[in-house]
Amino acid sequence: MAKKSKPSAAGGAVAAAPPTAPPAWELHTGDCLAGMATLPDRSVDVVITDPPYEAEAHTAQRLVARAGGRLECEPIAFPPITEEQRTESARHMARLARRWILVFCQVEAAMKWRAALEAGGAVYKRTCQWIKPDGKPQYSGDRPGIGYESIVACHVPGRSTWNGGGSHGVFIVNKSGDPRTGHQTQKPLALMELLVRLFSDHDELVFDPFVGSGSTGVAAIRQGRRFLGWEMNTDYAAIAQRRLLVAREQLELSV
Ligand SMILES: C[S@@+](CC[C@H](N)C(=O)[O-])C[C@H]1O[C@@H](n2cnc3c(N)ncnc32)[C@H](O)[C@@H]1O
Repeated sequence: MAKKSKPSAAGGAVAAAPPTAPPAWELHTGDCLAGMATLPDRSVDVVITDPPYEAEAHTAQRLVARAGGRLECEPIAFPPITEEQRTESARHMARLARRWILVFCQVEAAMKWRAALEAGGAVYKRTCQWIKPDGKPQYSGDRPGIGYESIVACHVPGRSTWNGGGSHGVFIVNKSGDPRTGHQTQKPLALMELLVRLFSDHDELVFDPFVGSGSTGVAAIRQGRRFLGWEMNTDYAAIAQRRLLVAREQLELSV
């Protein structure tokens, strides 16, 4: 894997594997901004990432339904993204990728991510949508619920190709169904595997600087790609590491 930094103690570093072995992955615990600064230009193929959203999405007004339909406030447990983190992470993503950069965001932030990635030298291609048929209702009842998240898709300068032909960038995938990991914003594996298949090719290196519970990495491994990621929170990094190990073991058993 093309990188300069040493694997962190909590990371599940797997060194270069023989060509017939299942794909390698590497997970670091720590700040991705510091981590990305250690990587050379164009050292990953594709970035697929789900950074923290803005403060209004992390608010104490965020309601979730408990057993029996009881509603509870549940603010997001990790801090929202700052403008400085957006600018800096986008600059690195645009510098590191050889192909696509996909960034999940709320629709209100799509223009901000587009501008930050373009400022880093990437070329804006599309804002895709993840439609969640089982998304939360609008419990307040005073406005429509959201039911979707956006994915800003940029590419490095040059010809872009993807594996979706002429199809739309609208992905209809249920939010629930996967075993819960304890991470509040865990993305569904079916969605992440679809994105991996559409925007990368076999054995390419998929990079996620904001790993969370590791859904991008698990999807990458299951789809025969390699994976590199960073997660700041040690508890989440441990969850991700366990999931990555299981994904790799399952792949080993199937070859
Ligand atoms: C929206 S969550 C990602 C969820 C993930 N897609 C999943 O399926 O579990 C964003 C994650 O980024 C992590 N994070 C925030 N700032 C970070 C940073 N500077 N470096 C590394 N990780 C960071 C948070 O701890 C959080 O787990």
